[in-house]
Order: sequence, then C-alpha cells, then structure tokens
Amino acid sequence: MKAAVVTRYGGPEVMEIRDVPLPRLAEGQILVRVRAIGLNFADVFGRLGVYPNTPPPPFIPGLEFSGDVVAVAPDVSKFRGRERVMGYSRLGSHAEYVCLGVHYAITVPESMTYEEAAAFLATGMSAYHGIVRLGNLRKGEKLLIHAAAGGVGLAAVQIAKQIGAEIFATAGTEEKLALAGKFGADHLFNYRDTDFAAEITRITEGYGVDLVMDSVGGEVFKKSWHLLAQMGRYILYGVSSVTGKGALNRLKAAAAFSMMRPIFPPSLMSANRGIHGFNLGTLTGKESYFSDAAKEILRYFDEGFLKPVIGHVFPFEEIVEAHAFLQTRQSSGKIVVLVGT
Ligand SMILES: NC(=O)c1ccc[n+]([C@@H]2O[C@H](COP(=O)([O-])OP(=O)(O)OC[C@H]3O[C@@H](n4cnc5c(N)ncnc54)[C@H](OP(=O)(O)O)[C@@H]3O)[C@@H](O)[C@H]2O)c1
Repeated sequence: MKAAVVTRYGGPEVMEIRDVPLPRLAEGQILVRVRAIGLNFADVFGRLGVYPNTPPPPFIPGLEFSGDVVAVAPDVSKFRGRERVMGYSRLGSHAEYVCLGVHYAITVPESMTYEEAAAFLATGMSAYHGIVRLGNLRKGEKLLIHAAAGGVGLAAVQIAKQIGAEIFATAGTEEKLALAGKFGADHLFNYRDTDFAAEITRITEGYGVDLVMDSVGGEVFKKSWHLLAQMGRYILYGVSSVTGKGALNRLKAAAAFSMMRPIFPPSLMSANRGIHGFNLGTLTGKESYFSDAAKEILRYFDEGFLKPVIGHVFPFEEIVEAHAFLQTRQSSGKIVVLVGT
C-alpha cells in the first residue's frame, strides 16, 4: 500500500510517499481502507518529533481518518466488515490502510460524507471535552477561544454558541476572523496586531472571561491567564506557538515555554480560578468516555448545530503540501486529504 512516511524528524519535506506492507491486524482491531484523512496539528507535532510518545522515524503519522472496514480481528463483534467508519488513532492513518482498536472507530452517519467524517471527530471531541466536560460552560458566560478559525476553534465556536455563551475569538487574519464571526463569535480580535487582552478588559469593564480555550500557549497564555474572572477555568490543550515554518527551532520553543511560568497552586485558591490541561492523544483507559463523547457530538451533528468545517482539500499525492499549509498558518477550518477514489 501507499503511505506517507516520516523519514526523519523535521519540516514537511521529511515526509515521503512510499510503498509499504499492509498493517497487520492485532486482537481487538479492525483494518480500514482509508478514504479521507483529517489533518491535525498533532500530525505536525509528531513529524517534528515533539508529540508525546512519538516513535523514532521511519513511521507513518496520522491521527484521524474515515474509510471502510475491510477486515476484523476474530475477537471483534462490533463490526462485521464493509461499514463506513471514522477513527481516531495515534499514528498510521496517512496511508491507504490503517489498523485501529474498535473503541476508537465510530460508525459514520448516512448523512455524512467521507470528507466530513474525516473532519469531525478530533475537532468535535476536543471542543466538547474542553468546553462541556472540563470547562462546564454555562449560558451567558464569557468565553475566549484562541485560533478560533482553526479545526478545533470552529467546533468550539459552534458548541459555545449553542450553549449561549458570549464568545471572544482570536485569529491571525481578517479572513479567519470573519469565518469565526460567521459561525457565531461575538467579538473578534486579530491577535497578531491587536492587544486582545486590553480590548477584552475594556469591553467587559474589567470583568474578563469565565473560560479560556487556549491551543496556542506562549505569549497568548501569558496575556490570557490574567483575563480569568473569579471562578474562571483555563483550558490549555495545545502549544502551537512553539512551532515555526520548518523543523523545530529549539530557541523559539524555549522562549514560548518560558512565558508559561509554573503556577503556584495556593495562588489559585485565593484567586478562585483554575487551569486544566488535556491531550486526547495520551488519554488511555477511557474507552467508554470516548464512545459516550462521540455519541454526544454526533447528537450535536444530528441536531444541526455542530458541522464539520472543511477549509481545504488536497489529494494524497500532495500530503506534504497539505502539512506545510497547516504548519504555516495558512489554513482555516479543517484540511482533508483524499485517498484513492
Ligand atoms: N490536546 C488535544 O487533545 C488536542 C486535540 C486536537 C487539537 N489540539 C491542539 O489544538 C490546536 C488546534 O489544532 P487543529 O488541528 O485544529 O489546528 P488548526 O487550529 O486548524 O491550525 C492551527 C492554527 O493555530 C494557530 N497558530 C497560532 N500560532 C501558531 C504557530 N506558531 N504556528 C502554527 N499555527 C499557529 C493558527 O491560526 P491563526 O493564524 O488564527 O493564529 C493555525 O491556523 C493545536 O495546538 C493542536 O495541537 C489538541
């Protein structure tokens, strides 16, 4: 089969499309013929060699995909073969075939295309986990979403809109801000040229926000942490600011991390605020939570208030360009890579 292989850690150019053997089914797994890949920033981090538990190269990256079940392990009863599924794997989906544990494979609703299914699970789950489960967002609360026009960002805007929150959104261009606004963000800030913290303080008359969804970190974290109101919750689920255009620049990464100084826990008590980190990719032993959360976001989809937003589609032959497009901040919504016909 054809697969995109990370040949060494580095920029997008370290990936090569190669002929490799089919993956072998293990206990509890299904083999899926991949139809569409949903690109995630975690795929960039894996290629750079900074994602937790990334194997040494060569390896096939790829977290999210949709496709058809073509074989099932003897101990699997959830699928019989031929079902359309969307999946969330740690690695391996930048390929024509991928093996996956059944707990991380979800049946695709009839009304969803392969492209939409590949763009749905990781973004919807991350937004749901951060906003609903950890963030406990309530109607009328104020929420700040960073990188709001990205894959997870737009899912977060849609879920927060349905809850009835007041949404403050940041993004890196006017076009991206317009997109976040179209999906329901109330206040828009280009954080590359606006002091969003000063603006939010002014608009809220010093109150700040009740919840922050931060996937950027670095200076953005430093400015946003001080915006948390009493009983505020800070959700840190990414640090995209540590990356640049190509291979990892360790100095830039160190500078970004140094702006997220350790927090002294007792200070959280007197300030009445908290911080929660999450990484769905390293969450283990929570299979039933994963399937319950997937059911919940599929209900949101059925009810029409959470839609996968596909910003860009690339053919598999251009997967290196697709990675570069994501890493260099050119994308909005989700990037989908089509595999075969
Ligand atoms: N913890 C988890 O379980 C989990 C799950 C999914 C995603 N994530 C994290 O959530 C974030 C969004 O993921 P995604 O896949 O949906 O990607 P995305 O938001 O579609 O793309 C990343 C966006 O981050 C912004 N950004 C800010 N600083 C950047 C920098 N230095 N380099 C590159 N981009 C930068 C850019 O938007 P602007 O131009 O608007 O700044 C860029 O378009 C990532 O940090 C990812 O690691 C975490």
